[in-house]
Amino acid sequence: MLAHVEDQPVTDFWPKAYEGVYGDRRRSCGFALYQSVGVARGDKDGYRRQMAENYRFFGAPHVAIISSDAGLSTYGAIDCGGFVANFLNAATALGVATIPQAALTVRSDLVREHFGLLANRRIVCAISFGYADPSHPANGFRTDRAPLSEVVRFHDGR
Ligand SMILES: Cc1cc2nc3c(=O)[nH]c(=O)nc-3n(C[C@H](O)[C@H](O)[C@H](O)COP(=O)(O)O)c2cc1C
Repeated sequence: MLAHVEDQPVTDFWPKAYEGVYGDRRRSCGFALYQSVGVARGDKDGYRRQMAENYRFFGAPHVAIISSDAGLSTYGAIDCGGFVANFLNAATALGVATIPQAALTVRSDLVREHFGLLANRRIVCAISFGYADPSHPANGFRTDRAPLSEVVRFHDGR
């Protein structure tokens, strides 16, 4: 099933490449997740098993599909980013755990079909949500945060 999903990607927004620091951050986030669930480095079957968790929403009882009108192009996705951030913050404030997921977008056509979405909806991401299982090892890891100096460049306007 997963091989089928990966072999025929039909995606609206998937990045063409994660270069430089973006690739580094992606890898370190991925390895921290694998380590937390006991998947050793290089264990390809383990990677696939963990990846497959995306398609059962990591056991969460609910999923929100975030989509944008095709005509809005990149700005539609930007608006969705603001919506996603507020969704995550509001849910967290209410004690509800969230998992933003881009993995579903590798088969955006199937997502549209399954949820009966119009052809002009572009799938930005999904958010699985529910009450967290604090004993699950995946909930024990936290990603690093890049320091402000790495993500903001200040210019002296004088
Ligand atoms: C837009 C977006 C898409 C993501 N897609 C996935 C995904 O498809 N699969 C996954 O396991 N994690 C994905 N992640 C990462 C996790 O949902 C989560 O953010 C990460 O584990 C860091 O959590 P933390 O910020 O609480 O440490 C995504 C994160 C974001 C913001």
